[in-house]
Formats: sequence, structure tokens, C-alpha cells
Amino acid sequence: MIKLNYHYVDKDIIGKDHGLEVEKEFAKHKDKIAQIITDLNKRKDKPGQWLQWMNLGYNEETVWYVKEFAAMVRGRFDNVLVLGIGGSALGGIAVSEALLKPYWNLLTPEQRDNYPRLFFLDNIDPDQITGLLNTIDLKRTLVNVITKSGSTAETMSQYMIVKDIMEKELGDEYRKNIVATTDKKVGVLRQLADQEGYKTFVVPDDVGGRFSVFSAVGLLPLALVGINIDEIMNGIKDMDLALKNTNISENIAAQNALIHYLYDTKKNKRLSVMMPYSSRLKYVSDWYVQLWAESLGKQVDNKGKEVHVGPTPIKALGATDQHSQIQLYNEGPNDKVISFIRVEEFDNELKIPEIFDYTGIGYLGGKSINQLINAEADSTRVALADYKRPTITISIPKVDAYNVAQLLYMLEVQTAIAGELYNINTFNQPGVEQAKNYTYALMGRAGYEESAKTLQEKMVTV
Ligand code: PA5
Repeated sequence: MIKLNYHYVDKDIIGKDHGLEVEKEFAKHKDKIAQIITDLNKRKDKPGQWLQWMNLGYNEETVWYVKEFAAMVRGRFDNVLVLGIGGSALGGIAVSEALLKPYWNLLTPEQRDNYPRLFFLDNIDPDQITGLLNTIDLKRTLVNVITKSGSTAETMSQYMIVKDIMEKELGDEYRKNIVATTDKKVGVLRQLADQEGYKTFVVPDDVGGRFSVFSAVGLLPLALVGINIDEIMNGIKDMDLALKNTNISENIAAQNALIHYLYDTKKNKRLSVMMPYSSRLKYVSDWYVQLWAESLGKQVDNKGKEVHVGPTPIKALGATDQHSQIQLYNEGPNDKVISFIRVEEFDNELKIPEIFDYTGIGYLGGKSINQLINAEADSTRVALADYKRPTITISIPKVDAYNVAQLLYMLEVQTAIAGELYNINTFNQPGVEQAKNYTYALMGRAGYEESAKTLQEKMVTV
């Protein structure tokens, strides 16, 4: 199982100004935490609570349909192209980057076991889109367009471009190259998919984008490139069981949520850095940043009182960012909690040859890169502690489907518990909607005329 080490937030290690009396805090908050966990598990099946993501690990039906479709199209496509943004893309990117062989798209079909290459378009940079469409053969590409609302401008504009090209190249057959993942009933994409006869998958009710990685949103692209989604489900189920434990001393999601909450609200440490010591987990930080920011950054609390809460998440990568951000983290303002993710066992053991005996580098010979990366993680924590900076370490036994699923699910539950501690709605995103609406207004969408007027008055362009 994944482990949480909070030794380096303890006041005995980093002093009373910046440290916590962790065990005392756990004891003080144990009833509140137990009540939050019980309550989340009670509410999770109620419609409108946006907690259906807590049931995704048990959704055998989706897994079955996803696997069936993946098996059906096996060998038919050279590429899978995912069109989606935010929660419709970040989970798939994080998990595929973690679990596919590194440099997947550069491998030969044999090296990929004849699974397709995988591309995500999660932005609307015209140069990037043009570049990709000039690079891959759309005739040999399965496009998975993913949008829960069915009308997100970025995703739907990409879809319209790709569909147009495909139709020109493939005639009516293009329909077989598109699969849509969207709401089961509402939204333009649902309408279009039904009219056009695309194969569809459902974004379940009461699952928000940033909590959707273990629905068809994430599972379908993962299964299409051969990732073992049964192991993903096993990981979630086991973690879910562990996190049902209402005792904070035995619940790592609750511990980490409380520690972050206390640092933000009592110790003025409002920045939360996520720093995996693993390139394969690099995009877990992107996913976490969205999860933490959109879920916890809120203007009002559950009573409607203006609170403007939310820790600011920051992504970093070990060991790379030791040579960029760590200077600031050690010596700059003491306003951050830094979370390391440490991998206990890498897939490969990479020995450093004993070829030089210069004093400056000779000591490296005979050791392994594996030793070096974890030595760097361990020594950086101690250095940060010397500067009285709090760090948490999440240890993951291996970067495999089971453990990566556990990690992401743990972070989801941690976010939900933190939201309850802040007493806010973790699952809405009015701040995102506001910008979306202004974009619709600016692009001339019907029904947004009033917003367009307000916008013209307020907007300054350079
Ligand atoms: O987490 C969220 O809810 C958002 O990031 C959405 O996923 C994002 O805005 C894309 O929305 P949609 O899936 O409706 O296209």
C-alpha cells in the first residue's frame, strides 16, 4: 500500500513556529474527521452530491464495455487521439504517462505490442493542432472526443476541425473513427453522436470532470493502448476500503487533508507543492494541481459566507527542480508545504559504471541511478527540514496500474475531506464557468448577448 510519512512536519523536527504537534492535532480533530468520512460515505449514493466518483472502482459494467470496445478495435488503428480539456484530459494524460512505456509514441508497433500511439490535444494552440494533424494519418486514427457538458468550446472546435478532415478523407466511413464520451442524455455532443451514429461512452451523473479519471473518460483511452484497467480497479477498491476507516490514525487521506488544512489556516502556508521523484509521475502533478485548485479554491462557504479560501497548488519534479525551485523553497518565504512522491522500486535498475576515479564523480561509479534519485529525495527533505520547511512524503511501492490508481484515488478522497474541513462545495467550479461564459459571449454564441455587452465594456486589449 501507499504510505504517508509526516515526520518532517512535526514541531520536534522543524520547530514550533513552522511545525505541527501532529499526534495532538489528530487527537483534537479525530471526531470531526470521523464524522466527515462517515458523512461522505453516506452521501455518496445520493443524487446531486457529486460523489459518484467514490463508486467508480466498483463499476464493473463500464469496465466490461470499455474492454469489449478496446478488443473490438484492436489492430484497426495506428493512433488514438483524445480531444478534451481540464478534467476530460488530465487524468488520462497522468495515468497513461505513468503506465505506458516511456517514449511510447516513438516506439515501433512491435515494441508497442501493436497497440496504437496515444495523443492528447488539450489545448487550442493552432500551431500545435496543425502540427499534430500534419503528423498523424487521420484515416488510421481513432478519435475519442470527451466532454461532459458536450459544448466546451475548445474541445468542440477541435472536434469540428478533425471531423471535417476525416469526412473528406474517409467519406461516410469516418463515423467508425470517432467515439464520443459525454453525458448520457444532454448536451450537443450527445445529440450529434446520436445523429451521426458514433459509438458512445457515458460520463456518469454526479461525477465532475476532475474526479472522472476512473470513469470511461480515463479508462477508455487507457484500455485502447493496452493498460490493464482491471488492476486499476483493484487499486481503487483496496484504497477505498482503507479510506473508509474513520480513524484518522489509520487513514492517510484524512491525515494529509488535515495537515494541509492546518498549514493553510493556522500557519499561513498557503502553497502546496507536489513533487514526484519520478518522471513517469510528472503529469500526476498537473492532474493534482487541477484537482486541488478547482475543488478548494472557493469564494463562498457552504453557508454562503464570503471566504475566498484555497491553498495554491504548484507542480515540481524531482530531481529536476532541485536545480530550479529548491533554492526558493529553502531560503525564500516559508509559505509552502511540499509533498514528495517517492517510488520504492523502479522497473529498471540502472547501474552507473565505474569508469572514472576523479574525486568529484568517482563515488558515483558502482552505485545506481535508482539509489541516486532516492538519495536526492531523502537528502532534500532533510535540507528543507534544516531550513524549517515542512514536507510530506507519499511512498508508492511501484509505478504500476494498481499503485497509480491507489495514489490518484487517495488524492481524490484527500481533496473531498479537505473540502469538508474548509466547509465549501468541493465539486462546483463557478469561477471556471464565468470565464467559459465570457468566451461564449465573445465568440457570438446565441443567448450570451448580455454578457457580450458587459464584456465589451470591461475589456481592454493591447
Ligand atoms: O473539472 C472540471 O469540471 C473541468 O475541468 C472540466 O472537466 C472542463 O472544464 C471540461 O469540461 P467538459 O468535460 O464539459 O468539456
